[in-house]
Amino acid sequence: MLDKLKIDFKNVFEKEFEDLFFSPGRVNLIGEHTDYNGGHVFPCALSFGTYGVSSKRDDKKIRMYSLNFENIGIVEFDLDNIVYDEKDDWVNYPKGVVKVLKEREYKLDCGLDILVYGNIPNGAGLSSSASLELLMGEICKYYNNLSIDMIEIVKLCQEAENKFIGVNCGIMDQFAIGMGKDKCAILLDCNNLNYRYSQINMDGHSIVIGNTNKRRGLADSKYNERRSECERALQNLQAKLNINSLGELTEEEFEANKNLIENEVDRKRAKHAVYENQRTLKAVKALEENNLALFGQLMVGSHVSLRDDYEVTGKELDTLVSIALKEDGVIGSRMTGAGFGGCTVSIVQDECVGDFIENVSKEYEREIGYAPTFYVANISNGTRKIG
Ligand code: GLA
Repeated sequence: MLDKLKIDFKNVFEKEFEDLFFSPGRVNLIGEHTDYNGGHVFPCALSFGTYGVSSKRDDKKIRMYSLNFENIGIVEFDLDNIVYDEKDDWVNYPKGVVKVLKEREYKLDCGLDILVYGNIPNGAGLSSSASLELLMGEICKYYNNLSIDMIEIVKLCQEAENKFIGVNCGIMDQFAIGMGKDKCAILLDCNNLNYRYSQINMDGHSIVIGNTNKRRGLADSKYNERRSECERALQNLQAKLNINSLGELTEEEFEANKNLIENEVDRKRAKHAVYENQRTLKAVKALEENNLALFGQLMVGSHVSLRDDYEVTGKELDTLVSIALKEDGVIGSRMTGAGFGGCTVSIVQDECVGDFIENVSKEYEREIGYAPTFYVANISNGTRKIG
């Protein structure tokens, strides 16, 4: 595939490529909608992601072409004049990254031709946008010799998504993608960005991602609404409690103070944020003690809470999870990512994976009317130069 990308680069830009970069997608194993609530997440980077083939120019233009959006053609922008433009579509993500880097006074003056190809299913909630942002951050760093570490790039990419794209996402996706490590998930405390890697050794089990094939758009979904509901709940709690985020509360502290939250819906949202954070810590402990059964139960608990208290699942995700849980060899299953469509993640005994995919596909199609898609996940390293 890399050879084909190099040829495509030559066909599109009529010159030879110089460098190759890769930025993964991510899947979150547990800890959903906790990142912007100052809680923990437990994601890993995937072996599928976004490739970037690039070469320098002698002016200050960035020209980009995606094999995933060939109809859009080459999109060009000037390093000294970066404005959001709806018709530039996917290129607004890399533009946002350049803009934020420049605002932070990083000196960017190297024009570039960049061909992009992503094999992350688009709009499936596996973070194709954050993958592209980190890819651009790494490319800018390389060609402009920026002295910037990966965590800083991660933060700036999140800022680009928040301010330039207008999606109020937390830091999980960018962090998982930038800091991913082969065969490991990352336990990240989003309150202070303390993190550690945890070896994923599932002893005879695979991580299977199931795409509902119901597309979700983060920007127009109810994502930002959930954030506001949690912020309101936090403000109510702060009337009595000296806390900066919901992630600081234990379940007991929440139960003892939940009546401070005026609105019943806000109370349910906050309950999810607090319980999911604690569940994530329990799940990581279970996994590290090789208690896969408990890890699976906690995954199911996470899904139920996202369904009933946070209300971000929907018919497709609920159907895919409930069918999955009826299959032999399934340890746990839940939605992953923002929700409202997108993907599930399941832990399945290796020898059952074939039947699992076949049976769940049939049953889901019977109930929903179209088929899901499955991928057995391989955990990979974070964004990097590969050639
Ligand atoms: C999206 C956001 C993340 C996180 C998840 C939910 O993927 O980009 O920051 O909030 O939803 O856990």
